[in-house]
Amino acid sequence: MKILAIETSCDDTGIAVLENNKEIKILSDSLSSQNNIHKEYGGIHPSLAKREHTKNIFPVFLSSLKKAKLLKKGKTQIFKETDKILERYPELLKDLKEFLENYEKPNIDQIAVTVGPGLEPCLWVGINFAKALALNWNIPLISVNHIEAHILVNFLENDKNVFPAISLVLSGGNTKIFLMQNIGMYKELGATRDDAIGECFDKTARLLGLPYPGGPEIAKRAEKVKKSRFKLPRPMINSNDYDFSFSGLKTAVFYEIKDKKLSEEEINEMSFEIQNAVIDVVVKKTEKAILEFNPKSIFIGGGVSSNKKLQKELNKLAKKYNIGLHIPKYTTDNAIMIGVAAILSPKIENYDKIGANSNLNLND
Ligand code: KG4
Repeated sequence: MKILAIETSCDDTGIAVLENNKEIKILSDSLSSQNNIHKEYGGIHPSLAKREHTKNIFPVFLSSLKKAKLLKKGKTQIFKETDKILERYPELLKDLKEFLENYEKPNIDQIAVTVGPGLEPCLWVGINFAKALALNWNIPLISVNHIEAHILVNFLENDKNVFPAISLVLSGGNTKIFLMQNIGMYKELGATRDDAIGECFDKTARLLGLPYPGGPEIAKRAEKVKKSRFKLPRPMINSNDYDFSFSGLKTAVFYEIKDKKLSEEEINEMSFEIQNAVIDVVVKKTEKAILEFNPKSIFIGGGVSSNKKLQKELNKLAKKYNIGLHIPKYTTDNAIMIGVAAILSPKIENYDKIGANSNLNLND
């Protein structure tokens, strides 16, 4: 069975083709990132992101089918409703119609698409494109929760004897910690009450004059020093719950550097302290969950989980309690994870009912 997976929830347009026989095989993975576009704003600008998805989704789609060697000249009958589905994106409609007139239905059995959480106008680009394809190719449409996909992409490489597990989703839009009893069985233990963890990196990096996305920049700077003259708070580190709060950290950095021109060395030291403050809180909350739930493993996912220092500290923690730490190969947004989630935890949707939900929860 082959599945075409689509991801447009934030600022990456991703399309991948996966094959699921005895194991999951990646046939292609195409991605167009908008980092350069959003750099100027120090964060994601939703209407620009939507415009870029609309422009990029078709070339990314073609490249993905081509890489998977699934393009076959021919003709596909075009359903009239296609015009309605893609009426807001005239260029995309034109490209898709031209494609359908020139290529027969590829050997794809299902389409998977992210329906949330994420930026609603961006989600709709992927969803409407997926709908138009599913209609014209006459195949089922599977809706995927972006958070679940960040968790389940771990199972590309792991067997399933890992439960109960503690799963951390740490990205630019989400900071959540789950107790996972099995695939599809998640209990949210806590989440951020304000800024997401990646947002904290991005915003503090901006205060330091570092480019977007801030996480990798802060990490790079932090690596250059071994200690810091700055001291930041560790918000909610000792709270008796699993929630996080990162906006205070951003404010603390603001006041610490206000009216100062930091030297390069000071920027490095501030980066070091920001990274440590964030990691200390994540590690402490994870340890609390280990002590309470006695899990067999920890899963991490989302862009921030690619942070090497965080991985090192979580690794130490996993060793201390003799449990497994699973670091996925695909941490930042991509369509592979959408395909994996659709295969492992499929939610086949009524074609008319499928829609974007920017605040979608894991148990919705
Ligand atoms: O999962 P992702 O690609 O997109 C979503 O937000 O959905 O995550 C992007 C976030 C950005 O905030 C970026 O600054 C952060 O992940 N990030 C990092 C690192 N690499 C990416 N944060 C800390 N350290 C990193 N190495």
